[in-house]
Order: sequence, then C-alpha cells, then structure tokens
Amino acid sequence: MKILLVLGTRPQIIKSAPIIEEVLRYEDIELQVVHTGQHYDYEMSKVFFKELNVADLFRNLNVGSGTHGWQTGNMLIRLEEVMNHEKPDWVLVPGDTNSTLAGALAAAKLNMRLAHIESGARSYDMNMPEEINRRLTDHCSDVLFTVTKNCRNNLLKEGIPEESIFLVGDTMYDVLLSQLPKIEVSQIIEKLNLVDNEYAVITTHRQENVDDEKNLSEIVEALITLDGIEIVFPIHPRTRKQLKRTNRLSTLEKADHIKLLSPLGYHDMLKLVRNARMLLTDSGGMQKEALWLETRCITLRDTTEWIETIEIGVNVLVGSDKTSIIKEVKNILTSDPPKNIFDSNPYGDGKAAKKIVNILKQAD
Ligand code: UD1
Repeated sequence: MKILLVLGTRPQIIKSAPIIEEVLRYEDIELQVVHTGQHYDYEMSKVFFKELNVADLFRNLNVGSGTHGWQTGNMLIRLEEVMNHEKPDWVLVPGDTNSTLAGALAAAKLNMRLAHIESGARSYDMNMPEEINRRLTDHCSDVLFTVTKNCRNNLLKEGIPEESIFLVGDTMYDVLLSQLPKIEVSQIIEKLNLVDNEYAVITTHRQENVDDEKNLSEIVEALITLDGIEIVFPIHPRTRKQLKRTNRLSTLEKADHIKLLSPLGYHDMLKLVRNARMLLTDSGGMQKEALWLETRCITLRDTTEWIETIEIGVNVLVGSDKTSIIKEVKNILTSDPPKNIFDSNPYGDGKAAKKIVNILKQAD
C-alpha cells in the first residue's frame, strides 16, 4: 500500500508525526510525505521535523505565501503533478489549512481515495478560512477520521454516510503523550526567568484577529492593561507582520510585563503552557493542549470547534473584546479551578494514529 500524506503548516507537522511513526512500522506500506511549503520559516516548520524525529522524509513544493486563491491554486497544481506521478492508494490530509484543501481537491479530482484526519470539526463561522477548508475537504473524502462524538454528529447532520466515519481520537494527544518526557526537561522556564503559575502565555494568529485592526488593537490594549501578571507572547509571523505594520509592536516592546518571543519549538511551548497560570489563544489545537496540560484557557474567539473544553469548564470564549479579556484574566487570577476539573479527556486515548493506520490497512 502506498500512502501520500500532504502537510504544510506547523500544526499539521505536529499532528502527522504519530501517523508517520506508525506507518513506518509496517514494511508493506510505502509512505510519501509532501510538504506544500505553506509554512517555510525554520521555526514554523523544520524545527518540528527535528524535534519529533520525522526529518528528511518529505519533499517540499515550496509554494510559500500569497492570497488564499493564489496559495491554494498553486498547491493544487503542484500536488496534482506529484499525485499523478506517485499514484498513491491513499491520500491523507490532516487539519483545515489551505494545504489540506489543496490536497483534498487534487486527490478528489484524480479519483484517488482520500482520508481526512480531524474531520467534522465545525465552528459554523464561514468567515474563518479554516471552516471553508474543512467543510469542503470533508465532503470530498472517502474516509473521515474524527476526534470527538460531536465531530461525528456534525458529519452525520451533513449527510455523510455513517460507514465512512471513524471516531479515533486526536493524534495531537498521541504526540503530546509520547513527548511528555522531553517536555518535562525543557529549560524554557529557567531561560526566561519565569516563576511557575505566575505568568500567562498568549498566542494569536487567526486572520479574523490579527488582520482586523480593531480586533488586534483590542487584544493589544488588553495585554498592556494587564500589568498585574507577566505575559509571555511567542509571536506567529502573520501576527508580527501586522503588529509591525500598525506600529503596535513597539508599544508591546515597551511594556515591562510582556516578553515578546519568536515562535517556539514544540517542547518549549508545551512546557511553557503546562507551567503557566493560564493560556490565552485563538489556536484550535492549543485549547485542547491546555486541558491535557491542566492549564486554564481563555479563547480569543467567539466560537470553538472544541466545545467539550467549554462544557468541562477549563476554557472560556471571550472573542477579541478588551473588557471581556481583562475580566476573564482577573477571574483566573483570583480563583482556583474547581477540583478534578482536568480529569476528563474527551479527545481519545493516545492511540489515534494506530487506529487510523489499522483502518486504512483494512480498507485497502
Ligand atoms: C495557517 C492556517 C491555520 C493554522 C495556522 C498555524 C490556513 C488558511 N490557515 O495560518 O489554520 O492554524 O497556519 O500556524 O491555512 N509566514 C511567514 N513564515 C512562515 C509562515 C507564514 O512569514 O513560515 C507569514 C506569511 O507572510 C503569510 C502569513 O504568515 O502571509 C500567514 O501565513 P498563512 O500560511 O497564510 O496562514 P497562517 O496564519 O499561518
């Protein structure tokens, strides 16, 4: 069996790592990993191949940045060439990025069998490019691997046949479990001179937040106001660009309680979140990572695909409203989380990659 896995962004490399590792255990499976080049900075791409031991397995199409149409279109053209040449039995696409959609369209139009990893996630907000990507990808996939029951129900509601949906859990949990010993030994807390539980971490990169000047300004003003806690901010390239363009980077640089950093590697980032008082984020994956690492989360969005984190009570949605952000940060600073709040995990058992590869083998 020949599998072609398409990835291109930081979170896709992370969530694919356990699948790559699992596939390599089988001599009768040939694996091709194609990196679209959507993310190209060392700290957005290569560092994860190195840290998670999946180096040198892939070919890079170096598509790079552009508008959505340009980026997705160029990936589609290049991926079609590769797929036509490789003739895989399965094309695998993880997540909801432009690389996911391009891989899905290329495979579907070549009538190749397509499997979507992290299928059925919905925010029901079509202003998010990711929502468009995941809906279209789901509807041209032959096999749909979901993380939660809720994702499965979303697909059933949209008329996807039950027999093509497989509830396997989250490969991001697989990777977190396997990397815990290395997360443990990260020296990032000492390096940054932080005190456990006395700092907050923030990450933001969603187009709706950082490309919208009003939303970006609300978030920045909230951070400046919150000078009662140290704030660590590893900045995504998209965000850095917009902060610079709108002259807000220098404002943040001047604030003594804010530490601005370049994007971090996997182990450092997770150690930072684990030992923090709270995480503020608009990332999808990090909302779940906060639960697994027992850190309370404030989500800088109005919707989330991971509603279980809200139901459990470890996560709260605040959008990009300055007053709501400040209120929730103060709430976490002045209250302890309810006992046992982090005990449940609706995101699988850490064996999602094993299940995915088994199902593909059986379907072959
Ligand atoms: C993409 C995904 C998003 C995912 C995120 C993780 C889409 C639509 N969005 O968002 O779902 O959560 O990745 O990071 O696919 N840039 C660099 N260096 C890099 C990568 C990007 O400088 O290595 C800059 C580029 O100038 C680009 C901008 O960041 O214009 C945004 O990159 P892009 O690939 O469009 O989307 P992300 O915001 O990273």
